[in-house]
Amino acid sequence: MTVSLTLRRPDDWHVHLRDGQMLAAVADATARQFARAIVMPNLKPPVTTAAAAAAYRDRIRAAVSPGLKFEPLMTCYLVDGIDSDELVRGHAQGIFTAAKLYPAHATTNSAHGVTDVRHIYPALEAMQRIGMPLLIHGEVTDHTVDIFDREAVFIERILKSVVADFPALKIVFEHITTKDAVDFVRDSGPNIAATITPHHLAINRNAMFEGGMRPHFYCLPVAKRELHRQALRQAATGGDPKFFLGTDSAPHAVETKESDCGCAGIYCAPLAIESYARVFEEEGALDRLEGFASEHGPRFYGLPLNPDFITLERVATPVPPRIPAAGTEIVPFHAGEVLDWRFVA
Ligand code: DOR
Ligand code: ZN
Repeated sequence: MTVSLTLRRPDDWHVHLRDGQMLAAVADATARQFARAIVMPNLKPPVTTAAAAAAYRDRIRAAVSPGLKFEPLMTCYLVDGIDSDELVRGHAQGIFTAAKLYPAHATTNSAHGVTDVRHIYPALEAMQRIGMPLLIHGEVTDHTVDIFDREAVFIERILKSVVADFPALKIVFEHITTKDAVDFVRDSGPNIAATITPHHLAINRNAMFEGGMRPHFYCLPVAKRELHRQALRQAATGGDPKFFLGTDSAPHAVETKESDCGCAGIYCAPLAIESYARVFEEEGALDRLEGFASEHGPRFYGLPLNPDFITLERVATPVPPRIPAAGTEIVPFHAGEVLDWRFVA
């Protein structure tokens, strides 16, 4: 039995680090395991300019403990009619790595998101030209569409036309949750990839209702039925370079999750690589974890692989029920469970 695993240091291609006290509380959890992370811009107000992204990057760097080497990769929050020159300039200055499309009202802090994808077509044109990736929260916001179908309907109603209109645009379909998305990405050209979270590999939609309402398993896009989880597991562990690690770690204070209108988001950063390792081991694919976690992402983004390595040991690792943060607590993913792997530097 494998007792220790050495991997090239991974990156997290989708994370929410928040700001202020919450940023201070969560930054190290990501920076301990990952060399780089694509940082989501859904702050209040959202990060829509290069100056705001540069200032946010400075705050992240200041929040990470001095011993940790970590590079935040910043994203621009796309809004209707966004100035493509701002994107091009921010990208040229090395501030924006990518830009994020939130359909308006699709998820947390997306009120300023895009109301019609045609309103950002000039930006997409520019991004295609300069090779700047578009990161997509792929759910329609039409409330007549069943919440469990919103990702599949997004592919049909929006994504297919964006891909047809911008055939060379690099697109990351973020935190995919369905077999439909897996199939779409697999069947598309090499410029279309996807991130997969640890939680969508571990749970299906039953987890939210097991013996009662379980707000800590609620995130967006919401977990789907088992056949979709199985398709995601095959995609993540199958070695296809189009699929790579993106935790979508999204911390919320416990009282905002356990409420009559609980926030969407799962805080999976503290034991992220351990959680993925469990899935890869269950699928008999531990030898493919490094590709998914450390190689496919940088290759897609055109960035160098990290030069250093991490080790995971096979040690029973209890996950705390709550983690103190910002004067309150966060319930992490796998709270109260015991994982088989432990990250050691
Ligand atoms: O569950 C989610 N939480 N999904 C998102 O898209 C946003 C995120 C957050 O910011 O809390
Ligand atoms: Zn996210």
